Amino acid sequence: MSRPISAQINLAALRHNLSIVRQYAKHSRIMAVIKANAYGHGLIRVAKTLHEIDAFALLELEAAIQLREIGIHQPILLLEGFFSEADLISIDHYQLDTVIHHPEQIAMLAKHRANKKINLFLKINTGMNRLGLAPREGIKAIHTLKNLSHVGEITLMTHLACADDPAADREINDQLNIFSEILNITRLPCSLANSAAIIQHPQTHQDWVRPGIMLYGASPLIHKTATELDLKPVMTVSSKIIALQQLNTNDKVGYGGTFRAQQPMQIGIVAAGYADGYPRHAQTGTPIIVNGQRTRIVGRISMDMLTVDLTGITNIAVGSPVILWGDHLPIEEVAKAAGTISYELFCSLSSRVKVITTE
Ligand SMILES: Cc1ncc(COP(=O)(O)O)c(C=O)c1O
Repeated sequence: MSRPISAQINLAALRHNLSIVRQYAKHSRIMAVIKANAYGHGLIRVAKTLHEIDAFALLELEAAIQLREIGIHQPILLLEGFFSEADLISIDHYQLDTVIHHPEQIAMLAKHRANKKINLFLKINTGMNRLGLAPREGIKAIHTLKNLSHVGEITLMTHLACADDPAADREINDQLNIFSEILNITRLPCSLANSAAIIQHPQTHQDWVRPGIMLYGASPLIHKTATELDLKPVMTVSSKIIALQQLNTNDKVGYGGTFRAQQPMQIGIVAAGYADGYPRHAQTGTPIIVNGQRTRIVGRISMDMLTVDLTGITNIAVGSPVILWGDHLPIEEVAKAAGTISYELFCSLSSRVKVITTE
């Protein structure tokens, strides 16, 4: 028998979360963000489940090609665009859409001898200062791009830096003002909203919304839980107790002996560690569910195991079920206790964790 850790992927929850996106952004087209193996949920299974979506976005060219090869017919946008002329040949061949965020990409595109028209999302830097052209450069770029016979539709896009923060209206408005300078001149279709903006900033919905995290059932907002937003966890990671230990007062637990028992207590050893994707920085006190009852982690997370406090937990035995995050234990709570965010936990799920899909 293999180790008892597994990740259940609930496809009904994924469909439900898509319906929530639709409720928020009734008049926009939806581009599901499925980069990084669909945030760890499995590229192909997520793409097939979202078969009614208007488009997909990711940034790994190989993954985009894989989607085309299994017959995914919707537009697929490469969020960082292309890095070489060879990439452009693939974009052309597989009819992929591409972000353009840098003059070098425009120069490469101008030289490219295309077979078909390529649709572009021109990324404008409105204040995040990661990818994108300044608005004035953007206007020049549009002139150049419109003169290339192999350029198809052009859509303007930008990315918002603080959409998850309810106190950041000023930052959002600054970005929107910069974006509207170019939008008002060019009158092109556009895309701005990630999950947080879909929920909190309806004025950003426009032609295309780009949800990622909310599709997977985690809250994109600092101040609201997924349950409050009616989002359902798609991924539940569970395991089992594989050993029990009885501690005396002052006994220590795990590497470095960072946890010391204040009184006699029982602890359980769970088959889950940082090599499975559980965050090593999770502190003593991080919530976990054992046998349907909430308790806490004690001591350091090891590569393959972690230890849980069984004080007050009833009917425990080797083999008792454990939930690390997902159903009944929001991933955000675990992430917070480990000083990280749900996105990182999702993406860190290791390939050695077997995946069980439910419809
Ligand atoms: C350009 C872009 N749009 C949309 C998203 C989706 O963001 P979220 O997962 O917060 O909805 C991302 C994710 O990082 C992104 O990089």
